[in-house]
Amino acid sequence: MCGIVGYIGREEAVGLLLEGLKRLEYRGYDSSGVAVLEEGKLRVVKARGKLERLREKLAQTKLTGTTGIGHTRWATHGEPSDENSHPHLSQSGEIAVVHNGIIENYAALRDKLIARGYRFQSETDTEVFAHLLEETLKTEHDLLGAVRATVRQLEGAYALGVLCTRFPDRILAARKDSPLIIGLGEGCNYIASDIPAVLPYTRRVYLLKEGEMAQVFADRVEIYDMEGEKVDKEVFTVNWSVDAAEKGGYAHFMLKEIHEQGRAMRDTLRPRIREGEIDLSEAKLTDELLRGVARVVITACGTACYAGQVGRALIERLCRVPVEIDVASEFRYRDPILQPTDLFLVVSQSGETADTLAALRLAKARGCKVVAITNVVGSTIAREADSVLYTWAGPEIAVASTKAYTTQVLMLTLIALKMAKCKGTIARERYEALLAELQRLPEKAEEILSDVENVQRCAARFFSQEDMFFIGRGLDYALSLEASLKLKEISYIHSEAMAAGELKHGTIALIEPGRLVVALCTQGATLEKLRSNIREVLTRGAVVLTIGYADSEAEKELTPYRLAIPRTDDLLAPALAVIPAQLFAYYCAIQRGYDPDKPRNLAKSVTVE
Ligand code: M6R
Repeated sequence: MCGIVGYIGREEAVGLLLEGLKRLEYRGYDSSGVAVLEEGKLRVVKARGKLERLREKLAQTKLTGTTGIGHTRWATHGEPSDENSHPHLSQSGEIAVVHNGIIENYAALRDKLIARGYRFQSETDTEVFAHLLEETLKTEHDLLGAVRATVRQLEGAYALGVLCTRFPDRILAARKDSPLIIGLGEGCNYIASDIPAVLPYTRRVYLLKEGEMAQVFADRVEIYDMEGEKVDKEVFTVNWSVDAAEKGGYAHFMLKEIHEQGRAMRDTLRPRIREGEIDLSEAKLTDELLRGVARVVITACGTACYAGQVGRALIERLCRVPVEIDVASEFRYRDPILQPTDLFLVVSQSGETADTLAALRLAKARGCKVVAITNVVGSTIAREADSVLYTWAGPEIAVASTKAYTTQVLMLTLIALKMAKCKGTIARERYEALLAELQRLPEKAEEILSDVENVQRCAARFFSQEDMFFIGRGLDYALSLEASLKLKEISYIHSEAMAAGELKHGTIALIEPGRLVVALCTQGATLEKLRSNIREVLTRGAVVLTIGYADSEAEKELTPYRLAIPRTDDLLAPALAVIPAQLFAYYCAIQRGYDPDKPRNLAKSVTVE
């Protein structure tokens, strides 16, 4: 999730751009840069690392000019480095571009441009746009028309800010699937990825819609749709505080990130599914390699490990390959039995978790092929693994992992499906049906998130409990581990996840009148058995809350407390059923008066043993 700012007016741009970037820091970043129009030429300064490094560089390299664009980068294509930081210049140096989003067809466009003699300075998808626009401007003499023609060639998501020396009186802005706003000043105007960047200067903004483009001049703003028709836009007046604006209007980052899951799922799936096939070539997971995998080992910590538990069930079921899974802190010290023929998967949102990294190093030392599933480009785990599959969840700021979990689960599902296809352990029709349903999940996630009132009601009813149990069978059991962890870490309610059939072997002694048991009910094959387990606890006075399909009638007669998700294939249910569980944990924490973004004793990234 990168941050874009732009300024055009009468004041020196650099200071304003730095201020704007500072206000977008909450979005997370690994490098930054600015471009300013100085006496008809574009000058660019960029730096890897904290914004302070850019500030230091700018103190040494004075840039003067009243029109500029700036960017904080969250790396996707290419490691965090000075070269990969934005803004990117076109070959002639006449165009500077900042971009947020992912250009999915960048590789094909890049090849075409190289064939036409363009030389690339970075590994980014964004640089493709700069050169492509330059190429278009050879025949199209209007910048707006050229930008429109260029974005038409892009697949994927973008928010763009463009400066061009031939049109020094304007900044061009365009958006599709990535946010962009325009701030309206007095004799000056701004562009930004998010409202907080402009709030100190103006509360009057235009919110660009999908496919809209803008020519931003110092004294006016013109907005157009993709067909080139002028759009008459209403000014939106912001009445939130800077703090609320940073969270996109949500009360907490955690809630915002829960609500981002539809988008995060789409971004993770889309680049890997092409014409009905799964493409994991970015991690060198070729058909031949996957066909030959005799065993999979998964290692991770916390939520990432619980995503791995879902992955284990899917790989075993679909590929008929044994999967071993262990928390990294145990794995690294138990002298594990590893074979060079094992496919070794490490899962980590941050890519910096010390135990996971140690497990990765151990597996590499034993000759295993290590594939990392991580969210942070250029992280240590990404660099040290043999290959990487990035979850495109975007920066996760809240300590409790939410969108990282769902995207990790989807990535593991893609691996399981692809491997099953290579090994011939799945019928063609089943493969196609699962792949089609997988692509419907983002929309179904958004459906769940469109109405959270029932979850709020349930949290208000149960938040004062001091102990809870989460039960499930099969994939529901794997999910109950994550649901229980989420509740514990932010609401401080003690909870335990149990395989439902195991309850009667001891833990049922703790069930007493009024105790809440949350039953995960998405696995049709074992649902009858699970209902028996629900009856066992009901008989002992427990209150039961179920998380299951909206159209499943059977639970209705057992309990009035139900959190519903849309019907999906049982194998894909964890990525949806986790959402009400996350919301339940969140609202319990709120009811108890805790800040879910900063739970006590916890850090976002655990880089010590
Ligand atoms: O960055 P990682 O995914 O490697 O982090 C692993 C765990 O520390 C992390 O999932 C932790 O359990 C979270 N607090 C869960 O919400």
